[in-house]
Amino acid sequence: MRVSGHSPVSARAFKIGLDQKKVLMTKVNAGILGTGHAYPDMVLTNADLEKMVDTSDEWITSRTGIKQRHKAAPGEYTSQFAAMASREAIERAGIDPSEIDLILCATVTPDQILPSTACLIQAQLGANRAAAMDIVAACSGFLYGLAMANSMIRGGQVKYALVIGAELLTRYVDYTDRSTCILFGDGAGAAILGPVAADRGILAARIKSDGRYEEQLYAPGGGTKGGFTAETIARGDHFFKMKGNEVFKVAVRSMSEISRAVLCEAGLQTDDVDLFLPHQANQRITDAVSTMLNVDPSRVFSNIAQHGNTSSASIPIGLDECVETGRVKPDDIVLLSSFGGGFTWGSVVMRW
Ligand code: ACO
Repeated sequence: MRVSGHSPVSARAFKIGLDQKKVLMTKVNAGILGTGHAYPDMVLTNADLEKMVDTSDEWITSRTGIKQRHKAAPGEYTSQFAAMASREAIERAGIDPSEIDLILCATVTPDQILPSTACLIQAQLGANRAAAMDIVAACSGFLYGLAMANSMIRGGQVKYALVIGAELLTRYVDYTDRSTCILFGDGAGAAILGPVAADRGILAARIKSDGRYEEQLYAPGGGTKGGFTAETIARGDHFFKMKGNEVFKVAVRSMSEISRAVLCEAGLQTDDVDLFLPHQANQRITDAVSTMLNVDPSRVFSNIAQHGNTSSASIPIGLDECVETGRVKPDDIVLLSSFGGGFTWGSVVMRW
């Protein structure tokens, strides 16, 4: 016979139940406690590209806003830059790597197929207590990571999460295709998330995808479907292929819609936004989204001229640059928005 509520075991279970309730009732948000970024030393300028394909600095600047991008040297790999950015974020957050519960690395350019780049970063950092995995969501990957870490911190499963966006895109760029090779660059950005007061940190986060757009932006080779043989490599199947025009239109519409949705969910207006940091894909996309959202240009961040499109790394690199230059201050409302291959898109609004 089972008598509930009287045995020592039941009394303990009841007490644990009460403690859990107390934790659940003490509402916490997840906020960014520290940021960092890193990129390769080597720079590829528009003048360099003029010598490689039929293009011009004038065309690239006027169509994209890009003047240069960083390019990894042979022998360099994604997790090295991710670990550099992470160490900076960990130090600024004032925690020890052993305190990290979760590592999410957003990347479409992993060191290798197995294990995940997140596990390789974990080993380099000595963050041995953490669960680690990669997120494959192209340019939206960092915001996917923020949204997932946010839920787990709010839910009490995780105290400190390391979210990284790290890409060596230049390894998958066809330097004979002028429509893509001018866009992409390499780099990594990282953020430590942890519990903050309920009115701070991430106020709303949304992520979405639509796999019907696969062939607008994809790399068909290298997997189980496209294969990885001498022929697929010779054909360049592993290189990124993009219908830039189509991507452009859907990107502007989707980023505007999802940004409005998170602002609405957080009870905020565009006027409340102190810093709008969109994914750095193309200056014309940034300008079009800012105009659709009616954000004052003085509040819109852009570093595309220096870095090009670094996919999932672009938002955390931008965030860290804003921290380093004092462009983001405590209490500022920061709106992040992204769009990428998949298609995937997302937006996060936070009180810094
Ligand atoms: N130099 C000179 N001319 C060029 C170049 C170049 N580098 N590239 C294309 N052109 C030419 C084209 O051949 C075309 O010539 P044509 O009219 O004689 O046929 C003309 O310029 C116009 O080409 P479009 O493709 O229409 O140029 P557009 O203004 O759309 O700009 C671009 C192209 C920059 C790629 C733009 O469409 C874009 O930025 N798209 C979005 C990219 C993006 O956001 N990707 C998502 C994220 S990436 C990720 O998820 C990994």
